Amino acid sequence: MKVNDSGVVIRKMTREDAQAVAELDKACFANPWSVGSFEYEAAENPLADYLVAQGGDGSIVGYAGIWNIIDEGHITNVAVRTDFRRKGIAEKMIAELIARSSASGVARFTLEVRVSNEPAQKVYRKFGFTEAGYRRRFYEDNGEDAIIMWKE
Ligand SMILES: CC(C)(COP(=O)(O)OP(=O)(O)OC[C@H]1O[C@@H](n2cnc3c(N)ncnc32)[C@H](O)[C@@H]1OP(=O)(O)O)[C@@H](O)C(=O)NCCC(=O)NCCS
Repeated sequence: MKVNDSGVVIRKMTREDAQAVAELDKACFANPWSVGSFEYEAAENPLADYLVAQGGDGSIVGYAGIWNIIDEGHITNVAVRTDFRRKGIAEKMIAELIARSSASGVARFTLEVRVSNEPAQKVYRKFGFTEAGYRRRFYEDNGEDAIIMWKE
């Protein structure tokens, strides 16, 4: 089932979502962010724009965020709960973030992704992101390199 007919709604992340988002972050990443970090992103960081995907039962099944720094958008996180993957949820969240940022004057987008994370690279390539370089040993947990991607 695709996102449009799966009962999943994409909406702005609020401070009240921080706990659930942090739990999903922990399930998806080796270096998870704290609840406080997501509270800050939702309620205080003037550069941040975060979205969540909410399932029909009210649970948070995905989230994605961006920092808009003048005319550059830095995509900071994208994650979807395992049982909700391949339904177009990441694609929909990223499309919405890019549209919102573009509307507020952002002209170029960038992100870092693990060399081994082919699913995420495929999603980003679909949006026209291309490899621009590497950050060597960027990820502390295993010393993996990051690919830097840009979409102009
Ligand atoms: C990467 C991630 C966010 C993708 O979320 P998703 O909602 O499953 O992605 P979508 O359904 O929107 O996929 C869009 C397209 O990306 C590509 N894609 C996504 N996952 C893929 C996979 N596992 N293998 C191959 N292609 C994949 C496909 O082209 C897909 O379109 P299709 O299903 O019509 O073929 C998800 O796998 C995830 O949360 N991974 C763990 C966290 C993570 O690595 N985040 C990115 C950090 S940089």
